Amino acid sequence: MATQLPTTDIRIGADLIRRRKGGTPIVCLTAYTYPIARLLDPYVDLLLVGDSVAMVLHGHETTLGASLEMMIAHGQAVMRGSAKACVVVDMPAGTYEDSAAQAVASARRIVGESGCQAVKLEGGVDMAAQIAAIVAADIPVMGHIGLQPQSVEKDGGYKIKGRTDENVAALIADASAVEKAGAFSLVIEGTIETVAADITRRIAIPTIGIGASGECDGQILVIDDMVGLTVDRVPKFVKQYADLRSVIEHAAERYASEVRDRDFPGPTHVFSRTNGGDES
Ligand code: KIV
Repeated sequence: MATQLPTTDIRIGADLIRRRKGGTPIVCLTAYTYPIARLLDPYVDLLLVGDSVAMVLHGHETTLGASLEMMIAHGQAVMRGSAKACVVVDMPAGTYEDSAAQAVASARRIVGESGCQAVKLEGGVDMAAQIAAIVAADIPVMGHIGLQPQSVEKDGGYKIKGRTDENVAALIADASAVEKAGAFSLVIEGTIETVAADITRRIAIPTIGIGASGECDGQILVIDDMVGLTVDRVPKFVKQYADLRSVIEHAAERYASEVRDRDFPGPTHVFSRTNGGDES
């Protein structure tokens, strides 16, 4: 049965997410489309329209394929499909790094045109001025440190963070800079467990882990990885809860064979003068 969207406005705001620090773990997933947002909304606290959409739905090699227009269009679709979750839209690479003014202008476009509750951007100490400026413009910001997908080309691949003392110190400085700049929460990606736990203890805003252990205040996964739809690389930290890829493959195989054998369409799928109804 289709999920009914509530008609009253009960949407979770960024402030409510911030106040969940240390409580029941915060449940987050990515979503990029209207139907998936409708399906996930009753079960999650937060839906992230991640720039992973560029890879997952658009077939780009990295998240650098995302544009502001792409993020806004997917943000609008997710807002149409969700009623309860806090919807956060990623700021794509190239739309915020140059200056605080550029970051505020891009964040205003994302929130203004999609209606989402908050934006997310990657970076720590280096992006603190941008985060502070967006927050000062009354737009809640989610930070993202550790493995930063927008920097994988610079970093030479998807490398787990926190394995050297120097890197641990840098991660702690990043987390603290994001918190001080006024972010309401912080994604920690691809970071060793002890470091994610330490950061979670040190900062007063919730940490949301992806490949960063159960020590974080919440968890996020890319929806296509979680339901087994991803066709290319699936990170080691992902737990697959369904195998939709084989469901779709089997359906396509049966459809193709029924069309070729003229078994589909059958008598119940065609219109005649007598079988009534105008419904398409
Ligand atoms: O783009 C994305 O999906 C993300 C999550 C991996 C946190 O940033």
